[in-house]
Amino acid sequence: MPSVLFICLGNICRSPLAEAALRAEAQRRRLDLIVDSAGTGNWHAGEAPDERAQRTAMRNGVDISGLRARQVKPADFRRFTHIVALDHQNMADLRKIAPEDATAELSLLLDHVPGREGQGVTDPWFGDEAGFDVTWAEVTAAARTLVEDLSRAR
Ligand code: 4NP
Repeated sequence: MPSVLFICLGNICRSPLAEAALRAEAQRRRLDLIVDSAGTGNWHAGEAPDERAQRTAMRNGVDISGLRARQVKPADFRRFTHIVALDHQNMADLRKIAPEDATAELSLLLDHVPGREGQGVTDPWFGDEAGFDVTWAEVTAAARTLVEDLSRAR
């Protein structure tokens, strides 16, 4: 079964939204998929997603209040078939900690959105709630393509 781990910095804004969007899309399309998220940092480990992220997900029909932040660990590179970084810094940090026997395929989230390849998802943490709507649109677009690609690959 494919398994996808989304990675951002804090695991309280962007990657929980990506996790929620992909899980929802996989359910809609009846694709069996393991989905999780983590942060490269550990400052927010154990915390629920940022309240603005929670409200944004809820406005789109998904409850993410039960998610808890955690830090990515070397074993994740073997446990997951795909690890998806939200921005370039996340990708650089992942490459630094990837173990030699990593099997997961690494990609940038917006590489999965036609026309947005190579771009990073801006951190909405410092802005207002409207920024979270932008993030939601980006992770939803990526989730659609990911589900299509993973369905085809099976
Ligand atoms: P995220 O956003 O990486 O999308 O979860 C952040 C949340 C908190 C911090 C950084 C990014 N922080 O530095 O506390």
